Amino acid sequence: MEDLAWGTDAELTDEQFYNRERDISLIKGLLETTSKGSPPTIMVVGIRGVGKTVLLKKIKKELEDDYLTCYVDLSTTSGYQRGKLTETGIMEQFYSSWMEACKRRGFATVLERVSKFFKTKKFELKDLKDAGGIPVPIIQSEDDYRKLSKFVLDLPQKIYEDHSRDIEGSIMIIDEFQSLRDLGGRLDSFLWFIRGVIQNQKNVAYVFSGSVSSRDSIIEKIAGKDGAFGGRMLNVEIYPFTKETVKNYLNEKLPSLNLEDGGFERFYKCTKGVPFYVNTFAKLLQKNVPLNDEMVTEEFKRTLPLLAVHLINQWSRLTLHEQTILTTLISKPLKRKEIAESMNITPGSLSNPLNKLQKLDLIESEGGTYSICEPILKAWLKKEYEERGVFPFRSI
Ligand SMILES: Nc1ncnc2c1ncn2[C@@H]1O[C@H](COP(=O)(O)OP(=O)(O)O)[C@@H](O)[C@H]1O
Ligand SMILES: [Mg+2]
Repeated sequence: MEDLAWGTDAELTDEQFYNRERDISLIKGLLETTSKGSPPTIMVVGIRGVGKTVLLKKIKKELEDDYLTCYVDLSTTSGYQRGKLTETGIMEQFYSSWMEACKRRGFATVLERVSKFFKTKKFELKDLKDAGGIPVPIIQSEDDYRKLSKFVLDLPQKIYEDHSRDIEGSIMIIDEFQSLRDLGGRLDSFLWFIRGVIQNQKNVAYVFSGSVSSRDSIIEKIAGKDGAFGGRMLNVEIYPFTKETVKNYLNEKLPSLNLEDGGFERFYKCTKGVPFYVNTFAKLLQKNVPLNDEMVTEEFKRTLPLLAVHLINQWSRLTLHEQTILTTLISKPLKRKEIAESMNITPGSLSNPLNKLQKLDLIESEGGTYSICEPILKAWLKKEYEERGVFPFRSI
């Protein structure tokens, strides 16, 4: 059956999900040590669109019978969407996700005990909203926050202890953790606080995941040797599909897509094997006609605005200054001094914008040389320039 997922699907069916057997068995194997009382802390990284979220959701589904599992996407925390992620927002999200998990599993006693806790810790009942049968605490003071966070972080261990006959342990997946950058100067103390609480838990495993390269400074803060989780954290990097994998994948899942040899080479060059782009581009291409190099190139140009939607959004929120830096990097990688010269400004004034573009994962620097690391954004900017003679600095 022809059934390719859309690039925006967060959960794939078993038919849609392809490959990754080794990543799955590696991560599952690590997580299953939780049942022996030595839970791992895992860091899953890889570029945007490579398939981290769908992979983790698949693993979650496979472990759901034996473990109490919980998935949290920090980029959907209400505070983050309103512009600022807060510690309280994160704790409230952790809390309601665990309560949801208990509800799904039918662990009713937990819900009762939780309500009691809030009374004994003097969270007034009027401070609880009732959300679909789940009491949600409302924080008033700094002191409440501290009590609540300790309580929330300890919940999965407590739930396990109450239900050790039903489950082998608890697993928490924290996705899009790069959103934690919002905490700014408070990030370190937040990470150390979490670490302090969870390092004593014998039956809870944690998986952090985010769209960052393994060289990013936030990875250092968490998993580096001086980071909050130090040498305890296990790193797993997810890579784009190889040429071979993409070829087999398309043959199997989308046989109506008829790529000639040259057409396939071009297809791989355009998508770089990133599943998000592979799926989206494959779905947009014409079916049941032989496609050669030239036709795929043409189609790529035509469909670029669709492939690049999320990047075009990001681009239009950049300042003119930041946009200009990107355009100077289109033809070739440059050193900071060279970018400054071509923009007629001092190298010092490039620090902030270069940092920001790196944080957005649009550029990367290696040995002091900066380049655009998002191929689709680069291709889209090039095309706009070729067609209009100017870069699309103003919103389009
Ligand atoms: N193993 C896979 N098999 C088939 N399609 C995949 C696979 N992994 C990712 N995709 C496609 O790529 C899209 C993006 O995956 P996602 O997990 O959201 O990436 P990430 O979380 O790394 O940014 C998915 O919606 C799906 O269309
Ligand atoms: Mg994701």
